[in-house]
Amino acid sequence: SSAFSMGKSAQEKGLPYVPECYKIPASQRPSLSPMTAEDIPVVDLAGLKQGPIERATVIERMGNACRLLGFFQIVNHGICQSVLDDALSMAFEFFKLPESEKMKYMSNDVHKPVRYCSSLKDGVDKIQYWRVFLKHYSHPLRHWIDAWPDNPSDYREKMGRYSTEVRKLGLELFEAITESLGLGPTYLSKKMEVGMQVMAVNCYPPCPSPDMALGLPPHSDYSCFTILLQSSHGLQIVDAQDGRWRSVPVLHGALQVHVGDHIEVLSNGLYKSVVHRAVLSGERTRISIASLHSLGLDEKMETAKQLVDEENPKRYKESSFKDFLNFLSANDVSEGKNFIDTLK
Ligand code: SIN
Ligand code: FE2
Repeated sequence: SSAFSMGKSAQEKGLPYVPECYKIPASQRPSLSPMTAEDIPVVDLAGLKQGPIERATVIERMGNACRLLGFFQIVNHGICQSVLDDALSMAFEFFKLPESEKMKYMSNDVHKPVRYCSSLKDGVDKIQYWRVFLKHYSHPLRHWIDAWPDNPSDYREKMGRYSTEVRKLGLELFEAITESLGLGPTYLSKKMEVGMQVMAVNCYPPCPSPDMALGLPPHSDYSCFTILLQSSHGLQIVDAQDGRWRSVPVLHGALQVHVGDHIEVLSNGLYKSVVHRAVLSGERTRISIASLHSLGLDEKMETAKQLVDEENPKRYKESSFKDFLNFLSANDVSEGKNFIDTLK
């Protein structure tokens, strides 16, 4: 049974059991007592706009996090708490709407700029995930916002505000990341300014057996990087040092930054895109809002020539966001197929 055929996805009906199609292989089930994660770096961005020494310190911390983990949390990022809270509450309210309202946006077509769906490809992929989501292109905002939901009535205004602020932050982060790679702060910055921003607004309803299913399977993001805002605990990442799953602690007001596949390609593998998954709660609904930042739809990301030499030959083929969408629509990624592996 799928959201398409039934009009309402299994997980949203509040079923007291987990249907077969949501059960993931035993070896891939999340541990219910995940490790703590005091090792996950928290980068204080305040120094980016202070003197050159402070900026260099922040950039070094960020570079280390990108190299060792492909992941860090950020504080003092400049987006005020009310903007974050408003975005989360718009997401909660959207998913609470009657199914008929959300179905207006329902589609399995990954190329659609505004799309509501459950799982990855609803009813199509072998394994289904305990998630419903709304995805929308967000830049340039004026170009897309009229296609966003207008119910709740302040969705466009409040989600639009967050989207604009997180994009500005994203451009600052990208400058810092290229600077940390020794490429300088303006490397590709003009292309990023006209690049894509896709927002994935995710809702993970409570699950009767949170150990049997997953909200999202292990994957890396096909973006340069992703900035995540979450309402509660549920994000886990693979620690590249030892290959173990780590639970990301929730820090009030902080945002999470994932290195995506495009930074891995750009950096010739110096920075690795982080493999992550979303685990479920038995009690509460969790919301996460992922803002994916990348070059334009048809713009190919290439490895920086400065990072290629005899000892470090070029390791990745170039690719565009469109190439990824084509891969996504042609493959069942529910079982862990990752696009970046096709670039190596
Ligand atoms: C994502 O991978 O895009 C979202 C993960 C999460 O919900 O924490
Ligand atoms: Fe992701």
